[in-house]
Amino acid sequence: MVENRCILLASRPMGKPTPNNFAEVSRPVPELQEGMVLVKVDMISLDPAMRGWMNEGTTYIRGVALGEVMRAFAAGHVVRSRHPDFAEGDWVSGLLGAQTYAAVPGQNLTRLDLSLGPLEWHLGILGMPGMTAYFGLLERGRPQAGETVFVSGAAGIVGATVGQIAKIKGCRVVGTAGSAEKCRYLIETCGFDAAIHYKNDDVAARLKECCPEGIHVFFDNVGGEILDIGLAHLARGARVVICGAISQYNEPQMCGPRNYMKIVTARGLLTGIIVFDFQERYPEAVAQLSAWLKNGQLHTRTDLVEGIENFYPALMKLYNGSNFGKVVLKV
Ligand SMILES: NC(=O)c1ccc[n+]([C@@H]2O[C@H](COP(=O)([O-])OP(=O)(O)OC[C@H]3O[C@@H](n4cnc5c(N)ncnc54)[C@H](OP(=O)(O)O)[C@@H]3O)[C@@H](O)[C@H]2O)c1
Repeated sequence: MVENRCILLASRPMGKPTPNNFAEVSRPVPELQEGMVLVKVDMISLDPAMRGWMNEGTTYIRGVALGEVMRAFAAGHVVRSRHPDFAEGDWVSGLLGAQTYAAVPGQNLTRLDLSLGPLEWHLGILGMPGMTAYFGLLERGRPQAGETVFVSGAAGIVGATVGQIAKIKGCRVVGTAGSAEKCRYLIETCGFDAAIHYKNDDVAARLKECCPEGIHVFFDNVGGEILDIGLAHLARGARVVICGAISQYNEPQMCGPRNYMKIVTARGLLTGIIVFDFQERYPEAVAQLSAWLKNGQLHTRTDLVEGIENFYPALMKLYNGSNFGKVVLKV
């Protein structure tokens, strides 16, 4: 009998997740109801938001229940279908969970076109994080040619994509990252104008030096101290896009910005983005991003981890910064 290997949320983390917060179990592959599709999951996406999903209660999405398969974006191929729109062999993605087989309603699946790029890209630059970068920057940040865009967490999948789109739009781009290798990557591969090693550099001093006219668009993935330093350097009319706050996700109490009055003096705009609000426009972003990838204006990298048993170490790469590129678990 084919077994479904699943990662369950066994307990809720207090602070940083530990291995004991998860349990691996094997279950029979689920029966298919009418309208459902059975997907063999080939790749599971690890995303910073998963930390929030482990908490009780509801924010923009309800928390994962204890004993439930850990929620995860994933991609794979159809092995059986009782839905008219899907047939065996189709490539699909969706919130399939951290498991090797998923039985899901057909309407919850997105069909993938692998001629646009390998499967892992459909969880990264052509998937949810790429959509976040595209709509977060263009719809919320509204960068104009000649403006300065500052991106925190810039070597991650969202940040690196944001910075490169801003370059395509004619902006000057400055980013922060947590290692010299990542900073080199931002400049040499992604075309950033400057990169700040936030663990070693004096971020405020470097930001002043790198953004002499101030920051026009601040795309923040990190929160905490970097958010405060960025706010202090806003140019008049700046747009601040709060995309995430990874420095705060494992803290018992999230710390908010102290420098928020700079929004007033800069006549700025502080805004947030939830990528799901743009779902109807994903095809437009996929078409544009894949065209840029094809003509070499965009670059992406994947940090591939093998084996569902490595779910926990793969997840933790996001919070300790040891990932270099989009973290994907091959199962
Ligand atoms: N709003 C939305 O709809 C939406 C959708 C997708 C993602 N997001 C957010 O976008 C952000 C980036 O996501 P991603 O998928 O691109 O992840 P990622 O950047 O590929 O990975 C996370 C990175 O965060 C950095 N980091 C970890 N702890 C940190 C800390 N204490 N201080 C500063 N940096 C830290 C690490 O890089 P370093 O080596 O540089 O430290 C790590 O590589 C996250 O905040 C995520 O929640 C939001």
